[in-house]
Amino acid sequence: MTTTSDSRLHTIDVALGARSYPVWIGPGLLSDHARWRAALRGRHALVISNTTVAPLYLQRVAEGLDGLHWSSFLLDDGEAHKTFANVGRALEALAQLGATRDACVIALGGGVVGDLAGFSAACWMRGIDFIQMPTTLLAMVDSSVGGKTGVNLPAGKNLVGAFHQPRAVIADIDTLTTLPEREYRAGLAEVVKGAAIGDPDFFAWLEANAAALNARDTAPLIEAVARKVQYKAGVVARDETEQGERALLNLGHTFGHALETAGKYKVLLHGEGVAVGMLLAAQLSERLGMSAAADTARLHRLLDAVGLPTTIPPGMDAEQLLALMRLDKKNLAGTLRLILWRGVGRAEIVGGVDEAAVLAVLRDNCR
Ligand code: NAD
Ligand code: GLY
Repeated sequence: MTTTSDSRLHTIDVALGARSYPVWIGPGLLSDHARWRAALRGRHALVISNTTVAPLYLQRVAEGLDGLHWSSFLLDDGEAHKTFANVGRALEALAQLGATRDACVIALGGGVVGDLAGFSAACWMRGIDFIQMPTTLLAMVDSSVGGKTGVNLPAGKNLVGAFHQPRAVIADIDTLTTLPEREYRAGLAEVVKGAAIGDPDFFAWLEANAAALNARDTAPLIEAVARKVQYKAGVVARDETEQGERALLNLGHTFGHALETAGKYKVLLHGEGVAVGMLLAAQLSERLGMSAAADTARLHRLLDAVGLPTTIPPGMDAEQLLALMRLDKKNLAGTLRLILWRGVGRAEIVGGVDEAAVLAVLRDNCR
């Protein structure tokens, strides 16, 4: 992995041999057409976006598509639209365009758009290029990097998908100026998560720069995105298809998914669920003698400092949450398999986790 930067533009390479690709992070990148046009190989492009993001940013992208056969496909806004039916519509749009094997899908939006667009690209003619243009903080630091694509089924989130790496990721920091506050903070949870799992220096840097990040100051924001992407790019390069280390990126997710599901996806955003989930995982790790109370307290303080929730929402039930955790995809042979914490910068996959300890932590936190 190589990283180059001038004062504002960072380039991080996701090193996957012939499928390596750059992640560009900086201001003004959507309008830096010469840079990203080089990643388009053919004559056809389909821009997939949604009805919130397209009015804000599609024009900047369209200006860079001069001379190509291109069209756009817009989703309605929201997780509920990350469906097979919409993949079918995106593929119809590629057919209408006359897209050949050298066509490119451009994903302009948050993780919902990116996951669906990437999966559509993976399906068309058994796999064509796609470019990620993430416009949420969560998508910049997590979902646009690493090639996980897919859609939801009524039976559950992200049940269908493919590993399909993008050709390039263009993270234009300027787009974050219009991101709603709650979505911005949810993205910060994924930043904190990367530092908590594998980068103690970055964790300390986040502690020192929390106020500047809350204010969305450009320079620290670019640095935070770049450091998290750098960390994730390394993990993906070592374990692209999640045979081992990549699973650590799910710290807090088993608790978090249970909280999201218990709230029927209306109470907590994904990043908020991850924030509470990380703290619960830290408390469980402490209870199991794997980490120190001082580490849990540090994580709690940092989550507080960036305005993330740290408590289970009122009205949730510990037994129900444990039952939901038992459905997690990571579990093996009917026992809980969780990402636990060894303190700042170190996480571990642990199988056969004692359910009584999990239940005790959940009971301690349910109001
Ligand atoms: P999202 O895509 O729903 O975006 C959040 C909201 O912000 C939406 O209302 C969207 O329209 C709006 N928005 C986006 N950019 C904006 C901008 N610049 N200005 C104003 N509004 C803007 O949610 P998300 O948090 O970006 O992504 C969540 C999705 O990502 C989930 O489906 C999750 O499963 C997926 N995900 C995937 C991976 C992966 O590795 N593929 C990792 C994490 C999450
Ligand atoms: N968001 C977890 C991963 O990309 O593996």
